[in-house]
Amino acid sequence: MIIGGSASQALAAEVARELNDKLCSVETKKFPDGERYFRIKDEIDEDEPVTIIQSTGYPQDENMMELFFILDTLGDMNVKNITLVSPYLGYSRQERRFKEVECISAKATAKLIQTMGVKHLVSINLHEESICDLYDIPVDNLSAMPAIADYIRINYPEKKPIILAPDKGAENFAKEIATLLNTDYDYLEKVRLSPEKVKTKTKSISVDNRSVIIVDDIISTGGTIVNAINILKLQGAKAVDVVCVHPVLVNDAVLKINAAGANSVQGTNTLKSEVANISVAKTIAEHLKNL
Ligand code: R5P
Repeated sequence: MIIGGSASQALAAEVARELNDKLCSVETKKFPDGERYFRIKDEIDEDEPVTIIQSTGYPQDENMMELFFILDTLGDMNVKNITLVSPYLGYSRQERRFKEVECISAKATAKLIQTMGVKHLVSINLHEESICDLYDIPVDNLSAMPAIADYIRINYPEKKPIILAPDKGAENFAKEIATLLNTDYDYLEKVRLSPEKVKTKTKSISVDNRSVIIVDDIISTGGTIVNAINILKLQGAKAVDVVCVHPVLVNDAVLKINAAGANSVQGTNTLKSEVANISVAKTIAEHLKNL
């Protein structure tokens, strides 16, 4: 039985179709004062394994609260075997203390998720692998890169684009996609020329007259990508396209990226978004099959 929370209902339906599993009929709504409501409309046997699919991106608190309502309802039904698939796990960016006595929000949410009865957590390209250590239950951190590579193979005319990470932190994503597509990859690095001067450039490959696809895990304000596009254009890139796993996209990020000169911006459906054209349903379904 698969339950889709309101942040991920379409994705849950796709996963259920892939697995030939039942999609639970639920009722979700928001009261005029903003509070959420949740009801399960199908019969669920208490011994039946249940998978909840719910991303906890914007509005994070509402989606997180709805997730707790789903878990509490399943608890009342005595359902014990609960897997949570949270393709985008909110609050993951505060996974450690950057300043004294800050709340480690990723740890606080981990505590709640476990206490509410989740026995296994599955997510996609968690912000940091170390988030898994905040949990006492098994956590599987899947990669959306094979789905992204398939999308690039089918939809981009250039057969050998350079796959480029906007910073060192995203190098592994670029490497994974480039390996699958049998093409080159690189990342942008900052080089300090003097105490006052910093230059950002590609690490080793020239982008002059080449098509480049920038890949990152998250696009939030778009600042990182706009900066990368500006550098690539200055260095003579022929065309620049952008793909990401989690299209958080705040403050007109897509507009800014397009204005900087990108041909296209695409993301996966870990979050609902105007650019979420790459589905991770198969990635999730294949993994659930093997659990
Ligand atoms: C950073 O660790 C991430 O990989 C992204 O590069 C970052 O979250 C993007 O943020 P923004 O779009 O606001 O530059």
